[in-house]
Parts: sequence; C-alpha cells; structure tokens
Amino acid sequence: MPPASGRAPVLALHEVSAGYGAIQILHGVSLHVDEGEIVSVIGPNGAGKSTTFKVIMSLIAHLGGDVRFLGRSLVGQRPDRILGLGLAYVPQGRVVFAQMTVRENLEMGAYLERDKAKIGQAMDYVFTLFPRLGERPGQTAGSMSGGEQQMLAMGRGLMMRPKMIMLDEPSLGLSPRLVDEVFDKTVAMARGGLTVMLVEQNAARALEISDRGYVLELGRNRYEGTGRELLDNPDVRTMYLGGGVRAS
Ligand SMILES: Nc1ncnc2c1ncn2[C@@H]1O[C@H](COP(=O)(O)OP(=O)(O)OP(=O)(O)O)[C@@H](O)[C@H]1O
Ligand SMILES: [Mg+2]
Repeated sequence: MPPASGRAPVLALHEVSAGYGAIQILHGVSLHVDEGEIVSVIGPNGAGKSTTFKVIMSLIAHLGGDVRFLGRSLVGQRPDRILGLGLAYVPQGRVVFAQMTVRENLEMGAYLERDKAKIGQAMDYVFTLFPRLGERPGQTAGSMSGGEQQMLAMGRGLMMRPKMIMLDEPSLGLSPRLVDEVFDKTVAMARGGLTVMLVEQNAARALEISDRGYVLELGRNRYEGTGRELLDNPDVRTMYLGGGVRAS
C-alpha cells in the first residue's frame, strides 16, 4: 500500500475483517491515512464505517487482516494502549460525561497522562481551538447544547495530544451553523499538524475538506480517490451524495 501522497502512512488497514460475535461485518477493508491528511470514509447506513473505527481501536473482535499505526500492529493491543500510542477516537453520538464539568470531561480525556504540566498544555490547546469551552470550564456537560457537547467530545479526544484523531459523525444532528463550525474545527486540527480520519453522513461536505476518501458498502471497499475525484464521480454522486453537489 504505497501512500498516494508520498507522505508517511500513519494508519494502514490491510484486508481487515471484523464483526460482532458470529456476525461478520467487515470483509477485507483496506485503507491508509498519511501524515497530515484528512481522509473521509463515507457510505450508506450499516456499511461498517463505525465498525471500522471500533476494530482499529480493538473495541471489537478482529477476524483477519492487519491494522498498523506508525508502522506497529494494533492487533491484540488494548484500547488504552492504542490511545497512549497517539491515536484518539471520538465515537458517534456526542458521548460526554453529563454530570461532570467541561474541565472534568477534558481531564478524563487525559487519564493516561500523569504529567500535570502536559495536561495543562493540552487543555490550553483545546481552549484555544474551542474558545466556548474555555469560557465555561465549570458548566456541566449535560447542560450544554448539542454543538457544544460535540466540541467537548472532540476536545476530550485531543487531551492526550494525539498524532491522529478519528471522528465518527461529528456533525450528526447539528444545526447548519454548527455543522459549519465542526468542519472548520476539523480543518483547523489538520492545519495544526493532526492527521484526521472522518466518518460523515454529510458526505459531500466531508469530501470537500478531505485530501482523500473511501466509500464503503456492505463492509467492503467500493470506491476510493481524492476528495475531488469522488465528488466528481457520477456513480458516487448519484448513490452517496444525493445527486447534486455544490461546486467548492
Ligand atoms: N453491537 C453490535 N452487534 C451486532 N451488530 C452490530 C453492532 N453494531 C453494529 N452492528 C451491525 O453492523 C453493521 C455495520 O454497522 P456500523 O455501525 O459499522 O455502520 P455505519 O456504516 O457506521 O452506519 P451508520 O451510518 O448508520 O452509522 C450494521 O448492520 C449493524 O447493524
Ligand atoms: Mg456509524
């Protein structure tokens, strides 16, 4: 799998199969994300996008193939070890600790870090990227708006100062203005040096900000290309992008 961009691969999946109990969902998925890229994974509901993230993080059974992060196999590693290696995962559904404050939620994201100075630096970075969190560190997460909770979930993912972050449907259920904000923040994270893998229902928007993308269907690779190639592909447009796409 030579990287198309000429950049070093950060994450590489080679023919990965995975599932839940006896049910196999992924049937040999291959993809790679190179340093500094934003790579989107799109596809219909149930295609296996979230499952792909879960098997990368070793949260579900791995049935075959290899997952490599910075050249090291993640197969059989514990999720906290994977996080410690520099791979952050923000699950679908704005998962925050509702009873805890913004600050406590962020501290939970750094639970593997013992160095208080590093935790403080990470929190400063998160507050710079998401000023609204910095304005209300004592507010309980459950009382925040949906958009603020999504920012908090993303901020928590940044607290270990990861090399790469995987975002599952960060814009789901948000108002158009907040959708814009989530995409802007994603671009800002990548400009800050982070490698990003993004799963989005909002496929056209995702591809517009992506270096490359993959289309999954029924647990298999269906199409891949640069963001622009996928946006311009008539089959992809008809099947996955609702027919029309705004020119960017
Ligand atoms: N815990 C589970 N146990 C059994 N099957 C599951 C489980 N979670 C997901 N699945 C099944 O795996 C398949 C892929 O689900 P997955 O969540 O990966 O899809 P997705 O592409 O993320 O879809 P969506 O766009 O709806 O989020 C679906 O058929 C789903 O029903
Ligand atoms: Mg999903």
